[in-house]
Amino acid sequence: MIEPIRWRGDGVEFLDQRLLPDKTVYVTCRSAAEVADAIRDMVVRGAPAIGCAAAFGFALDSIKNSDLKKAFDTLAASRPTAVNLFWALERMRRARNAVAEAVAIFDEDLAANRVMGRHGAALVPKGARVLTYCNTGALATSGHGTALGVVRTAFERDRTISVIACETRPYLQGARLTAWECVQEGIPCTLITDNMAGHLISKGEVDVVIVGADRIAANGDVANKIGTYMVAVLAHRHRLPFYVAAPTSTFDPKTVDGAAIQIEERPAQEVTGYRGVRWAPEGVAVRNPAFDVTPAELITGIICERGVVLEPNRARLAAMLN
Ligand code: MRU
Repeated sequence: MIEPIRWRGDGVEFLDQRLLPDKTVYVTCRSAAEVADAIRDMVVRGAPAIGCAAAFGFALDSIKNSDLKKAFDTLAASRPTAVNLFWALERMRRARNAVAEAVAIFDEDLAANRVMGRHGAALVPKGARVLTYCNTGALATSGHGTALGVVRTAFERDRTISVIACETRPYLQGARLTAWECVQEGIPCTLITDNMAGHLISKGEVDVVIVGADRIAANGDVANKIGTYMVAVLAHRHRLPFYVAAPTSTFDPKTVDGAAIQIEERPAQEVTGYRGVRWAPEGVAVRNPAFDVTPAELITGIICERGVVLEPNRARLAAMLN
């Protein structure tokens, strides 16, 4: 079983996602500031995992009677887009027992993932070739996964389904992490570069697209890893079902629509090279938005632990959340 986050009482251990798939090494953090660094540096990543990590970071400072306002602010400043971070920190701020609350956030995420997996698996046709983007598996959550969790559950029932993993430039979460998880679990997985998606879809080699989310606005617009929008447009053009799987901790009813979501800009070095190898010339201008927004109208359905919201819009999401 893949364990991305391990709570040890006086510290929290993260499976270092920067080193996968080559090395499986755990990094131990003993304070909110260390956890904030781990989130910013992508030791731990993926919206639900970021929320769980922040909760444990806050709990660590609470045990030490540190300044909890500072812990909150430090963790909140680590990454801006995944709303799970702010959702978890708000829960921690209100909690009487910080450790118990952090453990509850972790356990609830795992339970939500499993239920979501069952709701989503019902939508995956027999033998489906599922195209997915970024990494939304155990590594991105407390354990099972969101979009890849749906695939995991579907695969338990139907050994003929398979995954097409987009490599997910620039940080390669698909090539490094989704491919690794599938290989670990024996789920048939074919890796493609992101610019191959249109070709494969147009050739009829994809049956369904399932992706995760970092923030779902009140109207159903979804922020997810950069490139998701491109795949959604392709799916729409070719009349393929395009599902988003995310727990309710990723829903942000306070954000009216996708335009109001802050999109993280990451360092230029992630685009100009990788792990110390530079392929772009010095001096070139670079953009590195880490997420994009898929408008609700391109989404067939949003799968969460409460069920599936088909053709999501403001009214349907509000009804589901209330
Ligand atoms: O930059 P990352 O790797 O944290 O981005 C992750 C994603 O975009 C995932 O698709 C999203 O967080 C959902 S993870 C269950």
